[in-house]
Amino acid sequence: MRRICVLKGDGIGPEVIDCSLAILQKVSDKLEFEYADIGYAAFQKHGNYMPDQTFDLMKRSDSCLLGAVASSERGDYSSPVLRFRKELDLFANVRPVKSIAPSTARGPIDVVIVRENSEGMYTQNEIFDDEGVTTLRRVTRRASERIISFAIRWAHENGRRKVCCVHKSNVLKASDGLFLRTFRELMENQKDLVKEEQLVDSAALKLITDPAAFDVIVTLNLYGDILSDVAAGVAGGLGLAPSGNIGPDHSVFEPVHGSAPDIAGKGIANPTAAILAGAMMLRHLGMDDPAARIENAVSEVYASGHLTQDLGGRHGSRSFTEHVLKALSGAAVRR
Ligand code: NAD
Ligand code: IPM
Ligand code: MN
Repeated sequence: MRRICVLKGDGIGPEVIDCSLAILQKVSDKLEFEYADIGYAAFQKHGNYMPDQTFDLMKRSDSCLLGAVASSERGDYSSPVLRFRKELDLFANVRPVKSIAPSTARGPIDVVIVRENSEGMYTQNEIFDDEGVTTLRRVTRRASERIISFAIRWAHENGRRKVCCVHKSNVLKASDGLFLRTFRELMENQKDLVKEEQLVDSAALKLITDPAAFDVIVTLNLYGDILSDVAAGVAGGLGLAPSGNIGPDHSVFEPVHGSAPDIAGKGIANPTAAILAGAMMLRHLGMDDPAARIENAVSEVYASGHLTQDLGGRHGSRSFTEHVLKALSGAAVRR
């Protein structure tokens, strides 16, 4: 049995995770789910955005599945997402975006953004003075080597051909320069991978104007955050993009999107990102067959034209999921 810690969280988190759980239960009887509170929902119940019992369960589990947490402007708020990424040493954030739905994009997209997940702009180190605030942005050789080596390994293991380093070393000469130099060094002996480099601003443009040009992107923390939303938009929307926070001992899989307060409670959130995050989690646990079954079933449902409202269709979260369940049963998915 694999023990999965389920963190439904806030807003549309519980809605999309319930859909993902229905799918996971359908494809495997080797998963044991345990539930814990996180985010504002946890704060309301326990006075803490990530109670100790939640963190303990995350550490004891084989993997975790998260919906989303709503951030807060309260003075006592600190992000549980940033805390678990740091304390569980989840240094890699893997964000695949692939065209499966109809979109107005200029060409298909099949990109994997490998985002450095431990430092950069996310050290939350902000120093006040009389005139303002200075934010410390940290780039180390160790973290750069770790994430770039991860991206190279990931490219090999997944049959990818190109790795593009996205950076801003024309301005941030020392910090992004260190990231870029590390990339060049590590790519030197990778004869079967094509080495590419792109400044982050033009990378954002190119993702929109020529999405098919990208294969694997490896980049610093904040750039990866922003570019993964851009890439998701190119594929059709945030409801489509899953992600995995991965470290040596722990992992947390989640949609790229947040709690989406504008649509929460309406039953219309697209659960695809959460369902595909479940499939990514299974692959990470070595359960490739049920993972592939989920991915194929989702593609089949899209191919037969069943769409949620964000993509111009009429389905809500549940009825879309019913179609994925039908596809998993081998039933023809009728329009
Ligand atoms: P968001 O990702 O929640 O929503 C952005 C837009 O995309 C909204 O219009 C929303 O309706 C739409 N959208 C998102 N997911 C969708 C889905 N599954 N189906 C259909 N439409 C979807 O981003 P935001 O509005 O900037 O942030 C809302 C809150 O979520 C903030 O408090 C933010 O901090 C938090 N957040 C949390 C996480 C996380 O838990 N890892 C990630 C991103 C944002
Ligand atoms: C994401 C989110 C997080 C981030 C927030 C919630 C801290 O936007 O997972 O993409 O900025 O990494
Ligand atoms: Mn984000």
